Amino acid sequence: MAVSSGVKLDARALRADFPILARPMGGKPLAYLDSSNSSQKPRQVMDAEREYYETSYANVHRALYELGEKATAGYEGARETVRAFLNAETTREIVFTRGATEALNLVAYAWGLDNLGPGDLVVATELEHHSNFVPWQFIAGRTGAEFAVVPANEHGELELEALDELAARGTVKVVAVGYVNNSLGTVNPVERIAGWAREQGAITVVDACQAAPHRRIDVQALGADFVAFTGHKMCAPTGIGVLWGRRELFERMSPFGLGGDMIRSVSVEKTTWNELPQKFEAGTPPFAQAVGLAAAIDYLEAAGFEAIEAHERDLLEYTLGRLGELPQVKVWGPPAERRGGIVSFDVAGVHPHDVAQILAYDGVAVRAGHHCTQPLMTRLGVPATTRASFYLYTLPEEIDRFVEGLHRVTKTFA
Ligand SMILES: Cc1ncc(COP(=O)(O)O)c(C=O)c1O
Repeated sequence: MAVSSGVKLDARALRADFPILARPMGGKPLAYLDSSNSSQKPRQVMDAEREYYETSYANVHRALYELGEKATAGYEGARETVRAFLNAETTREIVFTRGATEALNLVAYAWGLDNLGPGDLVVATELEHHSNFVPWQFIAGRTGAEFAVVPANEHGELELEALDELAARGTVKVVAVGYVNNSLGTVNPVERIAGWAREQGAITVVDACQAAPHRRIDVQALGADFVAFTGHKMCAPTGIGVLWGRRELFERMSPFGLGGDMIRSVSVEKTTWNELPQKFEAGTPPFAQAVGLAAAIDYLEAAGFEAIEAHERDLLEYTLGRLGELPQVKVWGPPAERRGGIVSFDVAGVHPHDVAQILAYDGVAVRAGHHCTQPLMTRLGVPATTRASFYLYTLPEEIDRFVEGLHRVTKTFA
C-alpha cells in the first residue's frame, strides 16, 4: 500500500483497543467498513464511562454532596475538552445535545423562528444530510422564507458559481452546509462558503459529523457561526452531540428545549433563562456520554488527527485503485484529494442491497441505501448506493476482502 505521508498510524496496534473487531460476524472475521454510519468504540472510552458511573455518578448541577460535585466536574471537564478540540473561545459556546440531529434542529428552531420571514432565503446544499436539510426546509416553510439549494455536479461537488444567482433571489439569511458529505466523502470548501455567507449578512451552519472524527476543526478559523457534530461516529458513545455557536448569537437566541436546568427563575408570571450554555441544555443532560466523548477526543488526539487523515487517504487511494479491476463498478464522488475515507459505488445491474447482503455473507459490513441524502441521490439519478467507509482501525486486508467480495457479486449476477 502506498504511504502518502510521513506521519504513520499503527492501525494494527490500535485495533487491539476495539474488542468488537475481534468478534466474527456470521462465522467470518469481521471487516467493518461502515464507520461513517457509526464507529466502533475503544476500550479506553468504555472504561472512562464505566469508571465515571462507578466512582463519580450523581446528577449534575444540583447535588450539594461530594458525588454530585465529582459528577459535575466530570461533565464540565468534558466541555473543556470539547472547547479545546474545537479551539472555541469559551466553554459557554459549547452546548451538549443528544446528537447532531438535535443540535441542527436547535439552531433551525431557536434561531430560524425568530430571524426568518418572507423575502428571506434559506440556502442548504444538494449534498446535505437530511439533518441539515429538512429542519431548514421546514422552518423556512413555517416562517414564509424561501428555501433553495446550492446544486451539486455529477461528481458530487458543489457548483459555487450558483451562489450569486441565489443571492439575487432574496436576502440570504442562512447557509447550511456539510463539511464532509457522508455519501460520497466530498470535502466542501466550508471556509470559502462561510466567507460568502458573511458578505451576504447570513449565518453559516456547518454539519461537521463526517469531519470531526477524521480532521482537526478550528471553529475560529472556519468562519462559520454554528458547527454541529456527533459523538457516535468518533469513537464516543451514542446519545451525545455538540453544538458550537458564536456566543453573541447564542445570547440573543430564545431557548429550544424548555424545562429543568435551563431556567434562572420560574414563577406563574414569568420565567427567565439560565446562562450559557445551560440555557440550551434542558433537562438532565447526557453527562456520562459527554465524559465518554471527552475520552474519545483524548484517544483520537493521542492517535493524531494528521496520522488518521493520512491513513484514511492511503486506504482511499488503495481502494479506488483496486476497484479499477472491476469494470462493472462505478464509483461516485470527487477525486481522492477532495474527499474523505468514503467510497460510494454502483455495481452494474445489481441492487445495492444485494451487494451489501453478499458482502455481509463474507463478514464484510458496508451500508446500502440513500444514506439520508435523498436530494443527492436524485441528483446522481440513483435511488441508493453501496458505501464503504474507513476509520483509524481499518486495514488494507479488509479492503482486499471487500474487493474479493465484489468479484463474487459480479460473478453471481453475471
Ligand atoms: C453528515 C451527517 N449529518 C448528521 C448526521 C446525524 O447525526 P446523529 O446521528 O447524531 O443525529 C449524520 C449521521 O448519520 C451524518 O452523517
